Order: sequence, then structure tokens, then C-alpha cells
Amino acid sequence: MIERILGHIDENMDASLERWRAFLSIPSVGTDPAHDADTRRAAEWLAGELRDIGFEAGVRETEGQPMVVGHWTPDAATAKAAGERPHLLYYGHYDVQPADPLDLWTSPPFDPQIVEGPNGPRMVARGAVDDKGQVMTWLEAFRAWRNVAGGPPMPVTVFVEGEEESSSVNLEPFMKAHADELRADVCVISDTGMPGVDRPAVTTMLRGIVYVEVTLQGPTHDLHSGMYGGAVPNPINELTALLAGLHDADRRVTLKGFYDRVADLDPGQIEAWNRTGFDEEAFLASAGLQQSAGEAGRSVLERIWSRPTLDINGIWGGYQGAGSKTVIASTASAKLSCRLVPDMDPQRVLASIERYFEENCPAGCRVKVSNLGCGGPIRVPTDSAFVQAAMRAAGKVFPNEAVLIGCGGSIPVAASVRRILGMESLLLGFGLDDDRVHSPNEKFDLVCFERGIKTHARLLDELAAKTEGG
Ligand code: BES
Ligand code: MN
Ligand code: MN
Repeated sequence: MIERILGHIDENMDASLERWRAFLSIPSVGTDPAHDADTRRAAEWLAGELRDIGFEAGVRETEGQPMVVGHWTPDAATAKAAGERPHLLYYGHYDVQPADPLDLWTSPPFDPQIVEGPNGPRMVARGAVDDKGQVMTWLEAFRAWRNVAGGPPMPVTVFVEGEEESSSVNLEPFMKAHADELRADVCVISDTGMPGVDRPAVTTMLRGIVYVEVTLQGPTHDLHSGMYGGAVPNPINELTALLAGLHDADRRVTLKGFYDRVADLDPGQIEAWNRTGFDEEAFLASAGLQQSAGEAGRSVLERIWSRPTLDINGIWGGYQGAGSKTVIASTASAKLSCRLVPDMDPQRVLASIERYFEENCPAGCRVKVSNLGCGGPIRVPTDSAFVQAAMRAAGKVFPNEAVLIGCGGSIPVAASVRRILGMESLLLGFGLDDDRVHSPNEKFDLVCFERGIKTHARLLDELAAKTEGG
């Protein structure tokens, strides 16, 4: 059966590419109210695709962008066997990052183009890999199962959100309200990467995130810097000093308690990671660099996959026009994000950031810290039957065996399904480091797309077979 399904995937690849293109053509920039109608259209499109392959699916309202929820229930004959099989929950996000700066794209971001690259053809478009192309890998696997075998061989629930790129602020309330409907045996997510086009991976560590905006207010309005300078607090001087105080000389974060819950790595973990094919030089070169910078005494891989960070993502205030203007601005602001690792708690980190700015708020100034979104870190048990099945499935599709990797990015849902639904996640992603995620000319290599579909098709087979003989 699985061979026929894989053959079907090959024979119908052109149609898969067309569906993927249609999805990519919808500019579902979830964070931008100007694109709200487009974002909803992407949700409707997905629900339609799910219904087309036999799912009971619809678009559900939230306070923000809508959710897409779908259910596949095997027919009576399959259901009997399926009773023994795991119930799978698939998560993805249909929102994409804003496309700007537009002038750096070689083709319009929402006019998907297939162009030649070092790994063969690639799809170039906003959302190509993050996350529309990866959502399509499992959707197309379901479709192949549907066409060849009547449908996936076990119950499947799908939920796809439209606010992942804006910190999933409405996800937890939705999950709590629909806990019984969403609960399953594992949450499968394709929104991560792998070491190379021939080397698949299951991600077992994901960093969490705390994102805040800080504004420091001094004088009630902008002042002449000659009349007042030297005698009044300058919010930009003060804020930059406070920000500089967040790291010490070893580039460790100075926030109180920041490292208290940072778990030590298992012995051998770094060596195991070093064997996954991570090329430090190539990684730095992908950013136009020859040297790394970060917490003292740690390797690049260790820093990205196992250490927490604090980064200033934006900073503004005062005069930024042409020429000079002698002025003391009344406010200065910055956006900060911390990446968290197990077992750090986003709420504690948030509280510690707030305390830092309040306790150190300079005389004559007022400080405001706003929470723009949090997500917890996760670690997936590597001995999980789902991780093992995914490694087997990927190993049969790719030229090489799968490896276990970490990930520096964040996917808030993973910690939420664990906390609210008591479920582990299976992070099976097919992106590459050079996919230009969140950047102009985002792409997904077609070979990754195709192997992704086949891996998901095989995963269903592995999970069905696993329970067949007990
Ligand atoms: N798919 C990414 C996470 C990711 C990035 C995985 C790089 C693997 C490699 C996800 O869509 C993302 O961008 N997450 C945000 C979360 C944030 C907005 C809460 C992130 O990590 O910045
Ligand atoms: Mn993503
Ligand atoms: Mn993203």
C-alpha cells in the first residue's frame, strides 16, 4: 500500500505544486490589519482543501485571526483497527511574516516562482517554507492516502492558526475552550529544519520566547538640547545605559535569576549535536560572517540550541531625519526579546525584566514595559515512540538516517499543547538554513517539499503498523 501511495505522490506532483502555489498567492500577513481579509481567505482556502480530502473542517473565530480545525474519522472497517492506533493532531500556521523590504525580492513575494538553485528547483515566495510549504507536506500526504487508500489509517485532527508570527496570543484561550476536541496522542508540527537536503532530522529542543517593548519617558515634550542639556534626564542616554546593563563582559544576561532554571545538558549532548553535520563556518557564512559572538566559553551550536539570550530587536527615539537637530527627545523605546531554554518560565523572565526597568528607572523618568507575547521552551523525550517512528519514516525517504537536533527558534504551540492538553510534540521539519525564513526571497527546495510529503506519508504507515501486531 505505502509503495502505491508514494507512487501516487510522484505522479501527481504537478498538481501538488499548483495547490501549494495557490496557497502562497494569498498574502496572509497575519500581523497586518490591512491584510485581514487575505488572512481569512487563506484560512477558508485551507478548510476547503481539508473538506476536499474528506475532513470535516471549518474556520473558527478567535479574538484575532481565525483558526482552521478539521477532523478525519476513518471508516468503520479502518476504525476497528484504528482503535488501536494513535490519534494524531497536526498543527501549522497559515500566517506569514510581512514581505518587506519589497525591493530586495527578485520576484513579487506573493507571486510564487519556481527557479533553479544548487539543490535543483526551488519555490520562491513569502511563506514558501514558513509555514505554508511545510503545512502542504502533511496535507499532500493526507491527500495521497485519501486517493489511494480512502484516507489516513487513524483518526486525525488538524488545527492551523493565523497568529504564530505574532506570538500566538489567542492560541491558548482557543485551546482551553476546545481542549476535548483537540486532544490527541501527539501533536505533529512541520515548522522546523534539518541539517541538509540529504539529512533529515527530528527537533527535540525548541527555545521559548519573551517579547517586550520598553518606553522610557523623561520630559513631557522635546527640549532644546542647549537650553536644557546636562540638567535634565535624557531618555535616550538613560535607556541605552539600561540596555547596556543587561549583559556583562562575558555576554551573560544580568537579569536576576535568569539562569536559575537553565537545565544542564546531558553529558554527550554536545558531541551528539556535533555529529549531526552542523557546519559552523557555513552557518556563519550564511550571515556573511567569519566570527561568532555570544556567551563566553560556549560553541555556536551550544549557544543557539541550549542557551538563553536577550536581544534588542529595535530601538528608536529622537531625531532621525537628515542633518542635525539639537534636541532632547521626551521618550526613547526599544523592543527586546529573550529566547528561553528548558526549564525557564516565561512569566518569571517577564517579571524579572519588568523589575529590572522599574528598579533602575532613572530619577525624573517613567518606564513602561509592555508584554508583546510569550512562549515556553520545550524538550521532547527522544525515546518517544513517535520520534522513533518519524526517524524510521525519514530514514526510508532520505538518502541518510535522521538525526536529533535542537532549534534556536520558537513555536509557542509546543509548550501550550504540553501544558494545556498534556501532549508531547513531534517536530518533523524540512527547512534548510539557507531558506531565508522571514527574509526577502524566502524559498523551499522542491526536493525538500517532495521528501517532506513522502516522509509524512510513511509516518502514517509506520504509526499504523506499529500497533498492528501489538
Ligand atoms: N518556523 C519558525 C520557527 C523556526 C525558525 C524554526 C527558524 C526553525 C528555524 C516560526 O514561524 C517563527 O518564526 N517563530 C517565531 C515565534 C515568535 C514570533 C513568537 C520566532 O521564533 O521568532
Ligand atoms: Mn513557522
Ligand atoms: Mn516564522
